[in-house]
Amino acid sequence: MTRPWALILHYLAAGLARPAPRKVLLPPLTVEHFSAKCLDSTSAGFFLREQDPSKWIIMIDGGGLCIDALDCRKRAETDHGSSSQWPATWDPEAVPFSGGEASFANYSQVFVPYCSGDLWLGRDRERRLVIGELQMSGHLILDAVVEHLVNTTTLRTASSVVFAGSSAGGIGVFHHADWITTKLQAAGATLGADGVVVLPMAGLFFPMEWPVLWEEFRWGLEVPVDGFMASWCHLLEESFLHEGCVSAATAAGKPKRECQDVSKILPYIKAQVFMLQNQFDQYQVNHLGFCPVELCNSRTPPKTRAGEYLALLGQRSNETMKDALRQHPHWGLWAPSWFDHTNQLQRDVAARGDLQVSGRSFAEAFRSWQRGEVVQLLAGACDAGPCPLPSVEAVVMVV
Ligand SMILES: *[C@@H]1O[C@H](CO)[C@@H](O)[C@H](O)[C@H]1NC(C)=O
Ligand SMILES: *[C@@H]1O[C@H](CO)[C@@H](O)[C@H](O)[C@H]1NC(C)=O
Ligand SMILES: *[C@@H]1O[C@H](CO)[C@@H](O)[C@H](O)[C@H]1NC(C)=O
Repeated sequence: MTRPWALILHYLAAGLARPAPRKVLLPPLTVEHFSAKCLDSTSAGFFLREQDPSKWIIMIDGGGLCIDALDCRKRAETDHGSSSQWPATWDPEAVPFSGGEASFANYSQVFVPYCSGDLWLGRDRERRLVIGELQMSGHLILDAVVEHLVNTTTLRTASSVVFAGSSAGGIGVFHHADWITTKLQAAGATLGADGVVVLPMAGLFFPMEWPVLWEEFRWGLEVPVDGFMASWCHLLEESFLHEGCVSAATAAGKPKRECQDVSKILPYIKAQVFMLQNQFDQYQVNHLGFCPVELCNSRTPPKTRAGEYLALLGQRSNETMKDALRQHPHWGLWAPSWFDHTNQLQRDVAARGDLQVSGRSFAEAFRSWQRGEVVQLLAGACDAGPCPLPSVEAVVMVV
């Protein structure tokens, strides 16, 4: 019975040996030049832990988005809309690179909090009335942060850069998947042989033909809500969208908003991508399809209408990911079949559990993929639905 103690000591040693990521707010001139500001116009910034100078991970955070003036004003009073209350250091346990054996434990780490409410796509240089006299400048924040880091850190000469994002941040990295390399090079980074790897976690908004609303599905309708993403994003003016998709749309005489849905931009991405995505993403079910948690959860019986609803999402996620892999045979994929959004996924990246997909941990799968092996792992479903997590305590459901 000494094992648990040994484990705890091991964690403490791994955690305490490293200083926590410390806050860096962008300098005032940079903030003004880029308009790199949170919703409430406070300065954007990031949390930084400098370690291995040749390996860097930049992770952009998630946290939904705001959908009207009232909603945005409320958000502007929180850390998701203002930097005014950001702590001096970030809790290392709250970022997924910290566990002792985590893939990115020894990388230099940048964690960029999400304070623009805009899926990292906004390009506002001024406050706007429709969003409550606030501004959405997520893309500009990213622009400024990357350039500032290249100017002030060893990111300039890094040989390997991982660009990661979770949930809304996952949407952000998909759209910026090719932009990031262009930006790094333009800012003067040398980017060694390994180049940039893009790592979206739970950023597949949406799988093709999703969302289907539960209220319609339960009565037999399976029609996806057309243009859901576009209307979701109606508050964004002149937003940044994946440039390859936008030029293809323009050439085909189609509007640029066609490129808001991630499934539409996948074919155009040129970057090296390793996708992490639950096939039964809980957020897409409870928050976007509006199936209440009492009905749609990790224990929903398969032979019920709600069970069929979960199965439909699983199928569509699966098809979308398989399509992407057909188009990009070199991409990596680690897709569990749990009913989870980012909680368990981040623990897996942090190597804080021992869950596996097809017998392989994320750390091992990612390492093999980096060495050139084809790693495309789609976990089997359980009765066409989500599989139970081995330990229920392991996951704190955010609903
Ligand atoms: C990080 O560095 C420590 C100390 O050198 C080493 O024990 C550990 O295995 C490294 N972790 C990874 C994931 O490379
Ligand atoms: C980075 O350095 C270049 C060259 O000195 C300078 O022109 C640019 O304004 C700097 N950018 C930031 C964000 O500090
Ligand atoms: C997704 O595809 C994999 C591999 O073909 C399969 O084992 C799994 O059950 C599928 N999941 C769903 C939800 O259909």
